[in-house]
Amino acid sequence: MAYNLLKGKRGIITGALDENSIAWKVAEKAHEEGATFVLTNAPIAMRMGEIKVLAEKTGSEIIPADATNVDDLTNLFTKSQEVLGGKIDFVLHSIGMSVNIRKKIPYTESNYDYFMKGIDVSAMSLHKMLSVARKLDAINEWGSVVALTYMAAQRTYPFYTDMADIKAMLESIARSFGYHYGVEKKVRINTVSQSPTKTTAGSGIKGFGDFFDFANAIAPLGNADAESCANYCVTLFSDLTKMVTMQNLFHDGGYSSTGISMDVMERLGVEEQS
Ligand SMILES: NC(=O)c1ccc[n+]([C@@H]2O[C@H](COP(=O)([O-])OP(=O)(O)OC[C@H]3O[C@@H](n4cnc5c(N)ncnc54)[C@H](O)[C@@H]3O)[C@@H](O)[C@H]2O)c1
Repeated sequence: MAYNLLKGKRGIITGALDENSIAWKVAEKAHEEGATFVLTNAPIAMRMGEIKVLAEKTGSEIIPADATNVDDLTNLFTKSQEVLGGKIDFVLHSIGMSVNIRKKIPYTESNYDYFMKGIDVSAMSLHKMLSVARKLDAINEWGSVVALTYMAAQRTYPFYTDMADIKAMLESIARSFGYHYGVEKKVRINTVSQSPTKTTAGSGIKGFGDFFDFANAIAPLGNADAESCANYCVTLFSDLTKMVTMQNLFHDGGYSSTGISMDVMERLGVEEQS
């Protein structure tokens, strides 16, 4: 059921690689809620072609941009305003990549060139996007920027390796830039800390399947899926959350507040005490 929450709003959605991507679901929901937007991804991801299906479905244009490249981002924000006919109201940062994870390098042996690459792609890219948008004055007052993150920024998950540190940086950038952009232009910046989700980026993490099941057994509501994450992002883009900024918001079925569940206790063979 749609509520017209984003009627008349213009956006930029990064990171839709295929139909499993969280960004893909956000684009579908934003379209249902009346938004118009530009889709963007790294030129290399574009070659896979699937994003064109989403563009057709949502009546969107695609503007390729490597999120680490300031010239690409300047072109993205400039052209998006031309295509959409005005300033931007919402931006989704849904970009993550760690070469250390891809190459299965343990955290303690991290390759620093790969580490720097991960920081640039997955965290600094948010700073670059915001800096470009601010310089161009491309985002409307009360505009909303959401970046996706994971709880490894607060608690240790050994297999998440350098991405844990990178997500901590991403969340910090959202707070720091959120202060400055908020004071100057009332632009809101938040991170959404999402449950493990079966996507290309998610499934690349070692032991993801077991970990997915573990998180599902801990969370009272179970893992939040990509579609419900998209619904949450839509509320954050809408005017109903105008005073929410500089927050890291857990969207995880209650996982982050649960120590242990009876489900997990039973799996460990511990019987309930009366
Ligand atoms: N899947 C999970 O379990 C999970 C959980 C919490 C948070 N997240 C976060 O959600 C976000 C989206 O990931 P996803 O799970 O939908 O996976 P995904 O693989 O579908 O999306 C990652 C996207 O990043 C894009 N990307 C990589 N390098 C880029 C670059 N240089 N410039 C522009 N785009 C680039 C990829 O092309 C891809 O579209 C990521 O930030 C991820 O860390 C995912």
